[in-house]
Amino acid sequence: MFMRLSAFFVLLVILFSSAPAVAQVQSADAEGHQWWQRAVFYEIYPRSFADSNNDGIGDLIGITSKMSYLHELGVDAIWITPCYPSPQVDFGYDVADYENIDPMYGNLTDFDHMVAEGKKHHVRIIMDFVPNHTSDQHAWFQDSKSSRTAPHRDWYIWRDGKAPGQPPNNWISIFGGSAWKLDPATDQYYYHFFYAQQPDLNWRNPAVERVMLDTTRWWYRRGVSGFRLDAVDTLFEDPGLNDNPVLPGTNKQGDPNLQNKYNTNFPEVHTELQKLRRVADESNAVLIGETWTSNVAELDRYYGQGGNELQMPMDFMFTMVNKLSPPDFRRQVAAVESAHGWPVFVISNHDIVRSYNRYGDGKNNDAIAKLMGAFYLTLRGTPIMYYGEEIGMENNDPTRKEDVKDPIGRTGWPQEKGRDGERTPMQWNASPNAGFSKKAPWLPVPTSSQTHNVASESKDPNSVLNLYKRVLALRHTNQALLEGAYTPLHEDDANLMSYLRSYKGKAVLVVLNMSTSPQKTTFDLSPQGFGRSALKTAISSGASATGNEVTLEPFGLLIAEVSQ
Ligand code: GLC
Ligand code: CA
Repeated sequence: MFMRLSAFFVLLVILFSSAPAVAQVQSADAEGHQWWQRAVFYEIYPRSFADSNNDGIGDLIGITSKMSYLHELGVDAIWITPCYPSPQVDFGYDVADYENIDPMYGNLTDFDHMVAEGKKHHVRIIMDFVPNHTSDQHAWFQDSKSSRTAPHRDWYIWRDGKAPGQPPNNWISIFGGSAWKLDPATDQYYYHFFYAQQPDLNWRNPAVERVMLDTTRWWYRRGVSGFRLDAVDTLFEDPGLNDNPVLPGTNKQGDPNLQNKYNTNFPEVHTELQKLRRVADESNAVLIGETWTSNVAELDRYYGQGGNELQMPMDFMFTMVNKLSPPDFRRQVAAVESAHGWPVFVISNHDIVRSYNRYGDGKNNDAIAKLMGAFYLTLRGTPIMYYGEEIGMENNDPTRKEDVKDPIGRTGWPQEKGRDGERTPMQWNASPNAGFSKKAPWLPVPTSSQTHNVASESKDPNSVLNLYKRVLALRHTNQALLEGAYTPLHEDDANLMSYLRSYKGKAVLVVLNMSTSPQKTTFDLSPQGFGRSALKTAISSGASATGNEVTLEPFGLLIAEVSQ
């Protein structure tokens, strides 16, 4: 009887504590693909998505109110950039408490409600995890700086200066100036790779590792389906504090260029990623990495041995091809295809100029925005969209230094204008402030919000939004797009990017005119086994197909189905 009762209690505990915790468990599909391989991800900058209480800053209730929009768009998971309590020096990337919500965004009840509403609308929640540093206002750092013998002293990286008035070495903060700040109270320097208000945690201290792993567990239990891991390459530094090699020239902040040899990319990072992964696996959760890699070998390392690290290291290579270049794109896709993990494609985020501006030529920006959507959303792999990309939102950069909110835009002005331009409010309709808020938002909306907004574009069948919706709908139902292999076609064509996605006797052909001139071409798909079938247009914009011939206007796109 005792045994039975205790078994019953164990069952109760499982049902009521960990079961809701376990992120919607789903088995793999016939190809062994997990939920995150079939999902479309969408990054939300919470300050700028939807403002429910009209204080000019977006919030969780705002996000929750847009779940049906997200679902109808074709989004399966949203990654929310940090919404934890924070002094907002780096707009949330300076976390003062990892297990709470900043009052400006709501509270944990709002969070739970958002998760529940997300579940109803089949939208999972991915949180942003900032493991490298905390806010200087975090209780750990406050204790750490209080004395050389404080319990949390060794949770951060404290060192004596090289000589009076001299930091321990030549390391530079990526946001400008020395990476070391002297704290006069204890007469030692602490290390910060980012702003001085973002002291680096000491991951060589097992107590730090323990508490950080537990934090991820805590959120999984609240229903989070995964994390985007911030700045993972910066977790460890050389304990010997060697000076970094100096390179020629200076950066936008006026600091000498250094090779970050002794403060990034330590092998220990991978050990920690494996541990974070083991915790994630307890909840069928996904780990996405902010992995700024310069080649595929580096990217490959983040997948880990046998895939035991990040399932989704972000491939930022596209964000570095800032022109419409089929040869460059083919090279990038081929590189990712050769990696030992599932490709992850990104064309925009909150740290880089929006894709609308980067690829746009100033005249055909809408056509180019559609082209880019049709491109990266039909590749083999998981795309991570950036809010507003689907309506052709453009950068709205500050024109005066006094308007800049992002600190690097003030210290680096005018060379570096900061990241405000790509973080402006989501454009919902043509009313003042683009329907984001009744109050002046924290960043201004551009005048193009009059035409580029959800309400107007929903009514226009030729809008960027409707193109995105059609592509995402096809992607969710078409097996070749979900599972199929990628085969580049016409590989020496400088104007057209063409490829086939094929799966079990069915295929999708994608043809994208990346040039300013009309194009005509024919496809012989017999080597791929599709020689007998005519092209059946699924989605097109400025393009058409007859038999196996495709005609495209400048920046036209065609997505056609073929079968054996
Ligand atoms: C990442 C974030 C960026 C932030 C930095 C420091 O690069 O994407 O916005 O400023 O980390 O946390
Ligand atoms: Ca608000």
